[in-house]
Amino acid sequence: MLTIESPDEMRAWAREQAASDRTIGLVPTMGALHGGHLALIADASRRCDVVVVSIFVNPLQFNEADDFGNYPRPIDNDVANCQAAGVSVVYAPSGSAMYPEHFQTRVILGTLAEVMEGPMRPGHFEGVATVVSKLFGAVRPDVSIFGEKDFQQLAVITQMAADLDTGIEVVGHPIVRDPDGVAQSSRNRRLTPAQRAAAVCVPKSLTAARIAAAGGAEPGDVIAAAAAIIDSEPLTEREYITIFDARTLTEIERFEIINRRARAVRIATAVWFGNVRLIDNCDLFGE
Ligand code: PAJ
Repeated sequence: MLTIESPDEMRAWAREQAASDRTIGLVPTMGALHGGHLALIADASRRCDVVVVSIFVNPLQFNEADDFGNYPRPIDNDVANCQAAGVSVVYAPSGSAMYPEHFQTRVILGTLAEVMEGPMRPGHFEGVATVVSKLFGAVRPDVSIFGEKDFQQLAVITQMAADLDTGIEVVGHPIVRDPDGVAQSSRNRRLTPAQRAAAVCVPKSLTAARIAAAGGAEPGDVIAAAAAIIDSEPLTEREYITIFDARTLTEIERFEIINRRARAVRIATAVWFGNVRLIDNCDLFGE
């Protein structure tokens, strides 16, 4: 396995692969790899001849300097995990390689970035789209895999890849969960044992929502059923619960019969445990 740190070297390696007719799968990450990331890597390996994992904690997408500074960076462990997973290249550029002096270009997004997490995190999705666009430019992948855990991010990047004629196939991968149902996340490590135990209320709230929806409840009552589960847990503070169209990400306030059958509808939530913010989502009517 190679570790590559410069965009030029990365592009040169990608050109060699293309010349040998090998397809490249890219899994963009910020490191601190866990089972969710490893599932994306396995998915990329099944779809492509060679896999590149990028590890870069992207300052452009953080709203708070503290959050950026405190983000875990266990690079040796991450490299070992990539090696064990059969990855061909870890692409780990430095901050100055990605954002040299005089860097000034940003990707401007549309409505997909303005809803849900958008207003809570100004500039976040622009920062994500800009760095992913740079990763696409350096790695030139055929396929890039993103987790449904960050469903809005997946939607924004799918749209960007199409709008900018990248020719890259963006693939969504289902959420990987711990045995108790909590979605795996590098942020889970910052929870106290009591908070980690309480976090099970997040997937439970989504299950309650699915049961209410299957029973014919309208969105307001579905959200109330989910909120009741989260609010009954004293260690939490609920930020939002929303029901939305999976394609447009617009909020759904009333179900029509046709919605349930013909449109994918999802529910998403963000919940605080002390200063740790967890997000989760699921299909409301599907399997
Ligand atoms: P990061 O949070 O490291 O996540 C990297 C990828 O792993 C994302 O596509 C995310 O959705 C996916 N992922 C995380 N937890 C998951 C889980 N439990 N199940 C399935 N997939 C999961 O997302 C980012 O980094 C950054 O914004 C990035 C795209 C790398 C741009 O900087």
